Amino acid sequence: MTTESRIARQLDATASLSASFPRDFRWGLATAAYQIEGAADEGGRGPSIWDTFAYTPGLSHHGDTGDIACDHYHRWESDFDLLAGLGITDYRLSVSWSRLQPAGHGPLNPEAVAFYSAQLSGLAERGIRPLVTLYHWDLPQPLEDAGGWPARDTSYRFAEFTRLVFKQLGHLATDWITLNEPWCSAFLGYGNAAHAPGLADYGSAVAAAHHLNLAHGLALREIRDMSTTARVGITNIVTDIAPASDSADDAAAALRLDAASNRIFLDPVYLGAYSAEVHATLDRFGLASVVQPGDLEIIAAPTDFAGINHYQRVIAWADARALPLGLRERAAEPATTSFGWSVIPESLTAVLQRVSAEFTSLPLYVTENGASYDDYVDPNGDVMDIERVDYLRGYLGAAAAAIGLGVDLRGYYAWSFLDNFEWAHGYSKRFGLVYVDYRTQERIPKLSAHWYRRLITEHQAAAAVATD
Ligand code: FCB
Repeated sequence: MTTESRIARQLDATASLSASFPRDFRWGLATAAYQIEGAADEGGRGPSIWDTFAYTPGLSHHGDTGDIACDHYHRWESDFDLLAGLGITDYRLSVSWSRLQPAGHGPLNPEAVAFYSAQLSGLAERGIRPLVTLYHWDLPQPLEDAGGWPARDTSYRFAEFTRLVFKQLGHLATDWITLNEPWCSAFLGYGNAAHAPGLADYGSAVAAAHHLNLAHGLALREIRDMSTTARVGITNIVTDIAPASDSADDAAAALRLDAASNRIFLDPVYLGAYSAEVHATLDRFGLASVVQPGDLEIIAAPTDFAGINHYQRVIAWADARALPLGLRERAAEPATTSFGWSVIPESLTAVLQRVSAEFTSLPLYVTENGASYDDYVDPNGDVMDIERVDYLRGYLGAAAAAIGLGVDLRGYYAWSFLDNFEWAHGYSKRFGLVYVDYRTQERIPKLSAHWYRRLITEHQAAAAVATD
């Protein structure tokens, strides 16, 4: 059987799904610099906290590093040709702080400016709209040495970085995201040592969280100062959290977890203040003492859209001995990705509805959603990731359901374009719609890439008919 017929047999009609999305819906794929670029010592790049973390024995899976990754630094042109072939309209990428400003302050590195200028122009040439994330976790190591995100000064360094980057690249992209998932930077980075820089001190994590919020607000102010046309937002991960039972203790545990993962970031940006729930949960870890007069006005300045990353439903229950929040958590069943993450599409509907009902009436974008599976190249040379097709069909159906319920969702970026360096899990987790053979750097679009292209093509064909 040929690849084409094997693939055709697995692709169901996507027409009814594609018809559920508005005409201008943006179809995207997402990546992040450290996860794909490689070329860690080239082009004047300096070390970031992720280089240091990956090089520390025992911290990343098998000692994997981003030194080479997908070698996208050298292969970006053919990668972008591949992107264009997949039919997507939008691509979310991040710029590397440690490539652009290796010392964490001072002038930008011209080689890095040239690299990202060429990338953004290359997307435009291919008719793909970029969505640029300014910070996807790669803090320059010198800034970590100076205190990292628990230190307030880092927020101001990020504002300066944003100003310099926007001055150089602002004319090449309209859509900007300040930070990707500050929850991970703060709580996985400083709270439980799962991510770089690998510290486990909850008070530091809470300080980092506030300083990341502040960094967002300060960066937004810089961009507003330079442009009236840029569209700016922040991407937060929003987890669907449910109590394990209907006991009052479990309900309270779920609220604490919600405060410490969702609300600590959504409250100040969209509602202008940390809620009573957030203060009740986090003041004993120093939250109130790091908030300075004027911070909340800066953080709450209006954005143009809200970026939502969604992966999981988590079940929480009370356990007074479990530090720091007196609760335990697990993935909701059925947990079927290779990460053990839950596959519950309705969670995406719930999260989108919640954000638009409780937090903001701004347009929403799902800036990441996806799943890792144990993909392999079969004897025909194909990657038949049927599980990922099911996942995408389910979650896009859930996104469509949210739109049907009135949520102003304007786009969806699947995570990820390529298999890549999955942080502390190294190369052991594959999230790509395109398979990467890391030994040869060959790219093989998986069944899911073919499915996604078909969905987009059908949507565009229907949109074209509607306009005629
Ligand atoms: C998100 C990250 C992204 C990737 C996915 C799987 O939390 O933003 O870089 O690691 O998870």
